[in-house]
Amino acid sequence: VNNVGILAMEIYFPPTCVQQEALEVHDGASQGKYTIGLGQDCMAFCTDVEDIISMSLTAVNSLLEKYHVDPKQIGRLEVGSETVLDKSKSIKTFLMQIFEEHGNTDIEGVDSTNACYGGTAALFNCVNWVESKSWDGRYGLVVCTDSAVYAEGPARPTGGAATVAMLVGPDAPISFESKLRGSHMAHAYDFYKPNLASEYPVVDGKLSQTCYLMAVDSCYKHFCSKYEKFEGKPFSINDAEYVVFHSPYNKLVQKSFARLVYNDFLRNASSINEDAMEKLSPFSNLSLDESYQSRDLEKVAQQVAKPLYAKKVEPTTLVPKQIGNTYTASLYSAFASLIHNKHSELAGKRIIMFSYGSGLTATMFSLRLNEGQKPFSLSNIAAVMDVADKLKSRHEFPPEKFVETLKLMEHRYGAKEFVTSKDTTLLTPGTYYLTEVDSMYRRFYAKK
Ligand code: ACO
Repeated sequence: VNNVGILAMEIYFPPTCVQQEALEVHDGASQGKYTIGLGQDCMAFCTDVEDIISMSLTAVNSLLEKYHVDPKQIGRLEVGSETVLDKSKSIKTFLMQIFEEHGNTDIEGVDSTNACYGGTAALFNCVNWVESKSWDGRYGLVVCTDSAVYAEGPARPTGGAATVAMLVGPDAPISFESKLRGSHMAHAYDFYKPNLASEYPVVDGKLSQTCYLMAVDSCYKHFCSKYEKFEGKPFSINDAEYVVFHSPYNKLVQKSFARLVYNDFLRNASSINEDAMEKLSPFSNLSLDESYQSRDLEKVAQQVAKPLYAKKVEPTTLVPKQIGNTYTASLYSAFASLIHNKHSELAGKRIIMFSYGSGLTATMFSLRLNEGQKPFSLSNIAAVMDVADKLKSRHEFPPEKFVETLKLMEHRYGAKEFVTSKDTTLLTPGTYYLTEVDSMYRRFYAKK
C-alpha cells in the first residue's frame, strides 16, 4: 500500500467561548497578558451538556456522513485523550454505539493516554496498522478529544475544548513520510493529574515550558539525523513548507519555531542568512542549559525567526488561538487551520508536525501532501471542516458565566444521579449532548 495517511478530517468545538480580553479584565491580569503575552484570542469550553464523549460522537458521526463513509468500512478505531471520565471503560467503547447500530462490532483499537500526546499515539497506531500485515483493507479512524480546564490562577486562560476525527487509509492526500520521525521521551513532573477526584492538572508552568522546548530541540536533532541518513543530505527548515506545533498557547509556538532557527544556526544549515548569522553569533557558545535561561537569546531568536514564522507557522495558528489548548486535539486543530488557510497551495508540499505530551513524550514527524480525489481531497476537507463558519457562529459568554460553569462542572466531575439542563439552544442540529448520569454512573446522550 502506498501513501498511507489522513484521507478525511472533521473538527468539532463547543459553540460556547470566552474572550481572552474580557478574561484579563475579570482576572485582574495586566492588559495584554493573555492576548499578547500568551498570544491567545479566545477560549472554547464545554457547558454542562457537552463533554469529551458527546463531542467525539458529534465529530465521528459528522465525518462519516459528510464523506459518505459506511460505518461498516471502519476496521480500527483509536482514541487519544487525557480527560478521564472512567478509569476502565474506554471512550472508544462509547463511540461503538454508532457502529453497533450498523451491525459493525468488528473494530480493533482502544484509548491512548499520555497528556497531549495520546492523539499522535492513536494516529501512529492506525497508520502502522494500515501499513502492516494485520490490515484487513478497511479504514482506520482516529479521534483526539479533550476538554482542558485549569484551576483558577495563571494557567486558567490556557484551557480549551475540541475533538478532531481523522480517517486513515492508503492513497491519502495527507500521507506520512514514515521514516522521518524523531522522538524524545523522558520522566518529568511538569504537568500531571495525580488527584483523581479533580479534573484539574497539577502544573509547574515554567518547567513545562522548558520541557517543551527541550523536547523540540531533541526531536529536531533526531529528525535531522534521520533525514540525513535516508535522504543523504542535511535538513534545514527550508525543506519544510510549514511547521505545525502542539499549541498550549501561541507564545510557546513562537518560541519553539525560534528554537528551530537557533538549531539551524548551530548546525550551520542553509536556512540561515548572513544577517541571522550575525545576530545569533553572540549565542554560539552557550551551553544547552544556558540557552534555555537566556532571555536575550529568546528575544533575538524570535526576532530573527519572524519573517520565516510569518510564512511557515502563522497560517497554522488560527484555530488554536481561537479555541485554546485542546490537549490531544491541539496539534491537529493547528493542522486544520493550515488546510483551511492554504488548501489550494499545499499539493507537493512537506509539512513538519511536532507533538508534545507532558510527563513527557514528544515526536516530530513529516507529512507529504497532494490534492487527492473527492471526497478525499484537500479542498473537500477544508469545505467539510468549515472552520470559518464554525468560529463565526459561536456564542461569547461573559467571564462570570464561564467561571460559574466551571464551578458547576467541578461538582459534576465524578458525580452520579444528575440530569443536565438539556439546554441545546446553542448547539447546531446533529450535535450530541449529555442528558443524564444515573445512579450507576452510566452516562446517557441524545442527538439534537
Ligand atoms: N502585555 C504583554 N505581555 C505580557 C503582559 C502584558 N500586560 N504581562 C505579561 N506578559 C507576558 C510575559 O512577559 C510572558 O511572556 P514571555 O514568556 O515572552 O516573557 C507571558 O506574558 C506570560 O507571562 P508569565 O508571567 O510568564 O505568565 P504566568 O507565569 O503567569 O503563566 C504559564 C504562564 C506558565 C504558561 C501558565 O499559563 C501555565 O502554567 N499554563 C499551563 C501550562 C502549559 O500550557 N505549558 C505548556 C506545555 S505543557 C501543555 O501543553 C499543557
